[in-house]
Amino acid sequence: MSLEVPLTTALITGITGQDGSYLAEHLLEQGYEVWGLVRGQANPHVSRLRKHIGDVRLVHGDLLDQGSLISAVEKVRPDEVYNLGAISFVPMSWQQAEITAEVTGMGVLRMLEAIRVVSGIGGSRTPGGGQIRFYQASSSEMFGQVRETPQNERTPFHPRSPYGVAKTYGHFITQNYRESYGMFAVSGILFNHESPRRGAEFVTRKISLGVARIRLGLARELRLGNLEARRDWGYAGDYVTAMRLMLAQDTPEDYVIGTGRTQSVRELVELAFSTAGLDWRDHVVGDPGLTRPAEVDLLCGDPKKARDQLGWEPGVSFEELVAMMVESDLALLSRSDRPEDEPLSFDHW
Ligand code: NAP
Ligand code: GDD
Repeated sequence: MSLEVPLTTALITGITGQDGSYLAEHLLEQGYEVWGLVRGQANPHVSRLRKHIGDVRLVHGDLLDQGSLISAVEKVRPDEVYNLGAISFVPMSWQQAEITAEVTGMGVLRMLEAIRVVSGIGGSRTPGGGQIRFYQASSSEMFGQVRETPQNERTPFHPRSPYGVAKTYGHFITQNYRESYGMFAVSGILFNHESPRRGAEFVTRKISLGVARIRLGLARELRLGNLEARRDWGYAGDYVTAMRLMLAQDTPEDYVIGTGRTQSVRELVELAFSTAGLDWRDHVVGDPGLTRPAEVDLLCGDPKKARDQLGWEPGVSFEELVAMMVESDLALLSRSDRPEDEPLSFDHW
């Protein structure tokens, strides 16, 4: 008789993104079997993922295609689904509002439907709700024009971008499937989290790459938009552990994940430049073309519930995060064999 404990199987959408790679690493360390949903017939991001993690199994599918999600869930038979896939860059959501609604909003419904159909959950509430646990990547961007500070699980939403509106739909449809069908479906309301693997279009990475480029004599200036916006910035490697903990609870509930601190983009810039021995005032140029049609001025999360119920705490401070990213990009841009498959700057964002 075998005494082997069966592996927990996880399916991650958005596996090729920042969080997907950290979550896959974390779950593999925890002894999971990890599958990632990838879209497209030759997705260039897959080779980048493979550089970080070899042991992930891949299944094809797209959040725009209901049938592909049902097939993926049927094939993988996961115990847990982490829905991280999204169009996640806020400025893009004004330019392509409809596709953002389809992927970031309706994609959540399609993934929930795939789980419901494959689990055989019927049209009314099914006690127990099937076996597949579902995590939705909700966002502090839903708080938008904030009603109170810090923001917690009871703070009302007032999204300020098509992305925020789509995430708010995803959040409420997850809650609705939990209440309608008894599914174990939860949302993590995560505040901004960053890392050396962050996309180069987001402000932290744009700054760390810009600083490295200036320090190495590859550029002279860095163009930025609104320096007064404030964010609660944490480290992505810390935040993915909270995702797993949320699915390991006895009851499905939503949690805010943040640090409880807030800094302005200006403070971030000052720190990043000084880390490399530079004065930001010599290099940063304000560019009105980079300001947003509607801004989220201030975000600051209250992670008390996560601390009390999940035992979760952030490990890396803002100062350590900024140093980590600047040092990583200095090392990356100093390499003669630096990867050509990774876009390291964007003229238009
Ligand atoms: P990211 O780096 O932009 O990754 C997004 C992922 O979504 C990529 O793997 C992308 O895959 C995938 N994707 C895009 N369109 C898709 C589609 N039609 N079907 C399936 N997959 C698709 O984002 P992230 O920073 O890792 O964030 C992960 C999730 O958390 C996102 O939902 C984001 O909105 C949310 N979130 C992030 C933060 C943060 O600060 N990072 C905070 C709160 C919430 P391709 O390789 O195919 O493009
Ligand atoms: N990207 C960018 N580029 N942002 C800039 C720039 C610039 O040149 N200059 C100033 N900013 C300001 C933006 O106006 C915003 O107030 C802030 O920097 C942060 O911008 P991003 O790093 O692009 O992140 P975000 O806060 O809009 O969205 C991120 O966090 C959300 C959670 O709050 C994304 O990861 C979302 O997917 C996520 O949900």
